[in-house]
This record gives sequence, C-alpha cells and structure tokens, in this order.
Amino acid sequence: MLEQVDHLLKEIEGFSCNTLEEVEAFRIQTIGKKGSVTLLMGEFKNVPNEQKKEFGQKINHLKNTVQDKINLLKESLEESEVATQTKIDFSRPAEFTSLGSRHPLSVVRKEILDIFGRIGFSVSEGPEIEDDWHNFSALNFPPEHPARDMQDTFFIDNEIALRTHTSSVQVRVMENSKPPIRTVSPGRVFRNEAISARAHCIFHQVEGLYIDKDVSFADLKQTLMYFAKEMFGEKTEIRLRPSYFPFTEPSAEVDVSCLICSGKGCNVCKHTGFLEIMGCGMVDPNVLDNCGIDSKVYSGFAFGMGIERITMLKYQVNDLRHFFENDLRFLNQFKSAY
Ligand code: PHE
Repeated sequence: MLEQVDHLLKEIEGFSCNTLEEVEAFRIQTIGKKGSVTLLMGEFKNVPNEQKKEFGQKINHLKNTVQDKINLLKESLEESEVATQTKIDFSRPAEFTSLGSRHPLSVVRKEILDIFGRIGFSVSEGPEIEDDWHNFSALNFPPEHPARDMQDTFFIDNEIALRTHTSSVQVRVMENSKPPIRTVSPGRVFRNEAISARAHCIFHQVEGLYIDKDVSFADLKQTLMYFAKEMFGEKTEIRLRPSYFPFTEPSAEVDVSCLICSGKGCNVCKHTGFLEIMGCGMVDPNVLDNCGIDSKVYSGFAFGMGIERITMLKYQVNDLRHFFENDLRFLNQFKSAY
C-alpha cells in the first residue's frame, strides 16, 4: 500500500498538460470522487495499525501535492489564455514618450567648466546666503563705499545678504587653502534689478581665480584667449578695455569679436564688431592679505562671467526671460546639445 502511494506521487509530480480541460480531467482522475488518490485514501481502514501513521502522512502529502499542482497549472494556463484572447499586437510601434533634455544654462555651464577643467581648474561651490565679509569686505569693498551700489543687493539683515557674485566662493577658497590655487566657481547669484530682456534678479555666474608666484597679466590674457577660442571658435578674437572692480587692479572688461558678423559690424554687436562677455583683473593685494595669502609672495588673476550672457551670445537668444519660463518650445531646441 505504501509503495502504491509513492508510485502515484511520482506519476503526479511528472504530470504536465496544455489546456484547462486537461487540468480538469487530471483533477477528476486523482481527487475526484472515484479518483486514484481518493480511492487510496479510502484504503486507510485496511492499513495495518503499525503502518497507519506513515500511510496517513504520505497520503496527506500526496493530496496536497495534487492540489498545488492543479492550482499552478490552472493559473499559468489562465494567464496565457487571457493574453491570447486580448490579442495584444506585440509588433505595434510603442507610444512615444518624450525625452527630456538639459537646460541650455546647464549645457553652457558644463561647457565652461570643461574648458577650464582642461587647463587644470578645479570646481568650487559655496553658499547662496552670504555674510558681508565674504561678499563685500574681504573683496575690498569698504563699508559705505559707493562701489557697493554697483551690485544692488538683497539684504536679509545688516550682516547677511543673498550673494551678488560668486567671488564670495573664491574668498572662501583663499581662506581655506594654500597657493597654487586654480579654481572656477559656478553658481546662482542675486541682484535687486528690474526684470527685462537683458536683466534678471536671479542669474548664474562662473568666476575664476588663479593664484601662484609670478602670475602676470599676460597669463590672464592668454587664459581668456584660450577660453574664447574654445567657447566661440578658433577665429575668435578678444579685446580688453580698462574697467574698475574693487577687488582687482588693474581691471578690464573682456569683449569677443562678434559671432554673427565676425567683427564687420551688425545689429547684434551694435556695429562695434565686439560683444562684452566678462570682467577680469589682477587680484588686488589687499584681497590676498584679507584672505591670509602673502601678497608679497603671491599674485593672481580673477575673472567672472554670466552664464546667461554667454548662452545668449552662443545660441543667439534675444530675451533672457526665456531661460526662466520653462517653455518647452524653447527648451526642446537644445535637445541635441548633449
Ligand atoms: N565679480 C564681478 C561681478 O560679478 C566679476 C569679476 C570677477 C570681475 C573677477 C573681475 C574679476 O560683476
């Protein structure tokens, strides 16, 4: 009797089929009223007493195995039946999901950082909410000095403001590291300006700083020329005009030859042949000393540019507000930019 149970178990374990009808037939043949398992269970009373325990366990296991097998077969066959009934056409093209793209400012930010990265500039970042020292005083803006009005500031209180430039990050870098320093600081900056096609109260900058022994104005010029050619093309020329910033001396404004007319004169460059792209200069010795760097040993240069401005020139965007409106018709045009 025990062998019979084992034999049946093997048979059941090996059973397979392809239709729900076959599963039903299998159920009737095994645990139906006159099924093989049911009949064997009926034999329980004839099993000698000493084998009753073992037989009981085995027959229960057999019954459970059959039930599990039936459930499993049913489930998988029902599923495949649903799939064939709904007639899913797997050869149909999928529905389009629109791919996102990087924001043009992110594209240009990365490009600027890559260009300077190739000549050894690291990237440094700092807080958007700054104290007076890092945004102004360390950078040679004395209290009450009119130069502070060059940058209309959002003050939080007397001491704290939203940073007006990322030069504040460079102060932090100078305070916390030793020359040689070669770093670019990208980030959001804030100025209390009326929003127009050419200005916004929030915009983005990348500022650069290089400090070492014997850094000269020629190094600055060469670095900016390299940047302009990488960014706008091999034929680009640069022009430096004297300017004023409290933290650099001498200071200059940097122009590049107009991308549209190559310097011949057009509407974009207002017939001057040049477009302004950034400010720069030799770091004022006072700034180095303020940040714990000996100005008798070290010198350096700094420069700063607006990412919006570079992007507008590069892609001929005529209104700065486009960058903040998130209009997909505008953003989609930059899909292939990387
Ligand atoms: N910090 C200046 C600005 O925001 C730019 C600048 C940086 C100019 C470094 C000169 C040197 O306008």
